Amino acid sequence: MDLASQIYVRKSCRKYLDDEIDMKPIKEFLSNVKPLNPEIKYYYEILTKDEVNLKTRWKAPYYLAIYSEKKDNSGVNAGFVFQQLSLYMQTLGIGSCWVGMGSIKDNNPEFIILMAFGKSDDLTRDISKFKRKDLSEIADSPDDKLKPAQLAPSAVNSQPWYFKHTDEGYDVFKVKPNVLKRKIIGKWMDVDVGIALAHLYVSNPDTFEFEVKNKNDIKGYSYIGSLII
Ligand SMILES: Cc1cc2nc3c(=O)[nH]c(=O)nc-3n(C[C@H](O)[C@H](O)[C@H](O)COP(=O)(O)O)c2cc1C
Repeated sequence: MDLASQIYVRKSCRKYLDDEIDMKPIKEFLSNVKPLNPEIKYYYEILTKDEVNLKTRWKAPYYLAIYSEKKDNSGVNAGFVFQQLSLYMQTLGIGSCWVGMGSIKDNNPEFIILMAFGKSDDLTRDISKFKRKDLSEIADSPDDKLKPAQLAPSAVNSQPWYFKHTDEGYDVFKVKPNVLKRKIIGKWMDVDVGIALAHLYVSNPDTFEFEVKNKNDIKGYSYIGSLII
């Protein structure tokens, strides 16, 4: 099971088959998944398309509803955990797509986001089809080790992550959105950064370390944490 190689072929899946899915491998994977911060409690439910509210024009047979207690970086942690699942599902022929434009039917303040999933025969694409910022735009100097983060999915493809080299590794930042953008995508940016960090983790599983240090924001970006890969 090579999750890292999925990064270079995956895409957000919006075309699903109606096949039933055995949820056991998914649940098993999630019971062993690496969290970014083990002190943040999160949980999930598996729902069907009729059990969620959707504003998307497409539907998947199943939706993960992702919840977390509210703490610093709870959105980042959720992105980190469930992007690992997304890459794993891809190895099982199960496509997925994060869904900001949807919600659960009841009002749970711990709700973070939905992830659509289901069997699909439209799971992959060529690397040339990825639309992404250049490596030079996502770091203080271009660095091939950041390629897995460069290719990460994000809400409306905003790619709000930024990396600054340090002596040991990198400081990770997220774009400070302007007022308009904050309204539309601000709440998904933490999830986006967690997704990019998940790509760096599965590509460097033996060396990856993340820690929140006492560091300042830089112009245009908020500090999220520090990373070794
Ligand atoms: C937090 C988040 C929320 C998203 N919400 C939606 C959504 O509501 N509807 C949708 O069709 N795609 C959604 N996407 C998928 C993005 O549009 C997609 O990841 C991005 O355009 C890059 O394309 P790719 O995932 O195929 O590489 C979301 C992605 C993320 C990470």
